[in-house]
Amino acid sequence: MNRERWGNKLGVILAVAGSAVGLGNFLRFPVQAARNGGGAFMIPYFIALFLLGIPLMWIEWTIGRFGGGFGHGTAPGIFHSLWQKNRFIKYFGVIGIFGPIVIFIYYIYIESWLLGYSFFSLTGKYAGITDETGMISFLRGYQGIIHNEFFSGIKTAYMFFLITFILNILVVFFGIKKGIEKICKIALPLLFILAIIIMVRVFTLKSPYNPSWSPYNGLGFLWNPDFSALKDAKVWLAAAGQIFFTLSVGIGVILTYASYLKKDDDVLLSGLTAASTNEFAEVIIGGSIIIPAAFVFFGHNGISLVAQQGAFDLGFVTMPLILKTFSGGMLFAFIWFLLLFLAGITSSISLAQPAVAFLEDEFNISKKKAVGIFAIVCFTLSHLAIFFLAKGAVDELDFWGGTFALVVFATVETILFAWIFGIDKAWEEMHSGSDIKLPYVYKFIIRYITPAFLLFILGFWTYQQAVPTLLLKGVHKENIPYILSTRFVLVALFLTIAFMVKKAWEKRNI
Ligand code: ALA
Repeated sequence: MNRERWGNKLGVILAVAGSAVGLGNFLRFPVQAARNGGGAFMIPYFIALFLLGIPLMWIEWTIGRFGGGFGHGTAPGIFHSLWQKNRFIKYFGVIGIFGPIVIFIYYIYIESWLLGYSFFSLTGKYAGITDETGMISFLRGYQGIIHNEFFSGIKTAYMFFLITFILNILVVFFGIKKGIEKICKIALPLLFILAIIIMVRVFTLKSPYNPSWSPYNGLGFLWNPDFSALKDAKVWLAAAGQIFFTLSVGIGVILTYASYLKKDDDVLLSGLTAASTNEFAEVIIGGSIIIPAAFVFFGHNGISLVAQQGAFDLGFVTMPLILKTFSGGMLFAFIWFLLLFLAGITSSISLAQPAVAFLEDEFNISKKKAVGIFAIVCFTLSHLAIFFLAKGAVDELDFWGGTFALVVFATVETILFAWIFGIDKAWEEMHSGSDIKLPYVYKFIIRYITPAFLLFILGFWTYQQAVPTLLLKGVHKENIPYILSTRFVLVALFLTIAFMVKKAWEKRNI
């Protein structure tokens, strides 16, 4: 079958960068940095970037292109192409379709809030609210958790969800070149412009309370290194987790995007460019918005406020409140939400593509049918996030799909590539068609350091988080039925995909 192709090199780089640049850069990163001590966080963060993030980026670009050559755009087929003698490896690839679907079903709902809040900023719906409590109540009303004068039930949120869902499905339906590539070529530059506008606005803010609470002083928190934190394993885990999430590695999406490359297309420079674009958006821009803004408004307490709040409250409560206190505030709040929406949609379309590619490649069905099946399944599953949000369903989906699956998947693909496919062949495959030559030390890193680092994280994470999560530690009694139902759905989804893999291979008799 003739597979789709990217239009040009810039297109695929922007699409991968679009997948990477997301809510993680502007919301999750400042929260993680604040929680883990700012300058203390940045050292493990950069180490994880160079030893995990960038090698995984190269691995995923390379194995994606390799598998695409055999007509496979998703992990089951790609893993099988790398280890053809083994009948079981394809089942590990199920994670690379399961994970993106699970993230998609909650990510898209949060993305739809951003569209809603962009609209409310334009219409001034929350302009009269002047304090934190008011903004929190506005958000809870929107989510349908409480009733207030702004919203009666979940109707408005549901409408914005439908619009966002349809937009995503349309982009994926138009395909790699005419849908995903086209949207990313517009949305990514636009979101950078909007983010820079917000960043400049933040740096021109003057504290209404204390002249020494300048945005520049707020930056010191992130950039004064603190070597003592290197002894703390938790900081390392948080830094590694952020690197996975922000670069979109370990999810399964980059291999799918790379499967639409041609055999001799460069992967090393392109992967590095996409990763650098993401890091610029995260460390330079993402690090210069929320933290300095909170500092101007709340002084030293601002940082601890950032640390205490989850990414959602920070994005939907604190940031609009800060922005709207200053002149032209509602317009800047609009820019803030629009920028986040654009960052969100370029990521969510990448989460949709693996499942669609799996149906197209392995069952030989048309794009229309594949997108249709994906839309029905994900639309149905999204209701878990919409209606069980207050019961902890989104956190549950995020843990299994957005954290645990990533680490397992990254560990499997790295060992498969560096040890089973073999580092010499791997190195050659990475450099085939490449515009750059990697320093030799990366051969050593990919063979030993990256897998060892991943195994350490996997072990520690399982011990520290997966076991308590599995045993429902810390879950409110009344939420247990909802969490268990969510889990049941996740297990059913995983088994269904595994069954489909079995059927697809049976047909081919391999
Ligand atoms: N990489 C995407 C983000 O940062 C998922 O939000």
